[in-house]
Amino acid sequence: MQVGQPSQTAVAAAFHRAAHQVLEQGRIFSDPLALRILGEDAQSIARRAAERPSGRRMRLFIAVRTRFAEDALAAAFERGVRQVVVLGAGLDTYAYRNPFGERLRIFEVDHPATQAWKRQRLQDAAIPLPASLTFVPVDFDRETLAARLAAAGFDRAQQTFFTWLGVVPYLKQESVWSTPAFIASLPHGAHVVFDYSDPPASLSPEGRAVYERGAARVARLGEAWITYFEPNQLHAKLVALGFSEIEDHGPPQIASRYFPGRARSLPDKGGHVIRATTNKSRSREVKK
Ligand SMILES: C[S@@+](CC[C@H](N)C(=O)[O-])C[C@H]1O[C@@H](n2cnc3c(N)ncnc32)[C@H](O)[C@@H]1O
Repeated sequence: MQVGQPSQTAVAAAFHRAAHQVLEQGRIFSDPLALRILGEDAQSIARRAAERPSGRRMRLFIAVRTRFAEDALAAAFERGVRQVVVLGAGLDTYAYRNPFGERLRIFEVDHPATQAWKRQRLQDAAIPLPASLTFVPVDFDRETLAARLAAAGFDRAQQTFFTWLGVVPYLKQESVWSTPAFIASLPHGAHVVFDYSDPPASLSPEGRAVYERGAARVARLGEAWITYFEPNQLHAKLVALGFSEIEDHGPPQIASRYFPGRARSLPDKGGHVIRATTNKSRSREVKK
């Protein structure tokens, strides 16, 4: 990210969520605040999206990852989770439309420059701050999540749900692993949902061409994709940290779950969304 500037990929992800509301009527992921937090109207969103039709794939992936995370969070709430940490929140609006109200405590963690800008956007859009929300500014490359969360009143003794969307690809490998290690260390269990991509070298020629266009765009924004995972190696590392249940959806699983009937036109490799849960009382399980 540019020093002192809000994340430009956070703006881009928020644009894709807003465009999904306008162009696909929020069919995968419905977010009534998506346009308001950006401060744009439907016409300007539709015009900008039409200027770059190749953005459709990323738009749908972002809709899927957010929907998957919020569905998993709702299921975890039903099982008693009352604390959520939104890591690298960007312009994510969950805290401002949280269906569980004050029964769910929310911590929004982000880079200080992005978080300060978001708070201004919320104010400009007249979106009220719920009492259940605490902002936690953290630079993952320089600071320890555990210490910053503890200072903000995070309760380690509670089972917690973490979302970590659109962040891992931008982090250095050494910055990535401290976060799942912290999550796995929580004494009463935790869940994390994040997204990642297969290594570029493993993509088909068509997938590689799509990837290279996207990689060039984010690099131009000053936020290059630098971290990838081979799924089996990632799962093994998560299990070694103490995650006992792993649900990983790559392109074929995403296609059959969210785009039935279109599965054959999608590649085998690319973006994944994954849920990993620590629960010492359950047997180890890897679902794909
Ligand atoms: C692509 S955006 C995703 C935002 C949001 N999760 C979403 O899905 O719209 C990447 C986010 O990661 C955050 N981020 C990137 N590097 C970071 C770092 N070193 N420390 C803290 N946050 C970071 C950015 O501030 C930004 O909010």
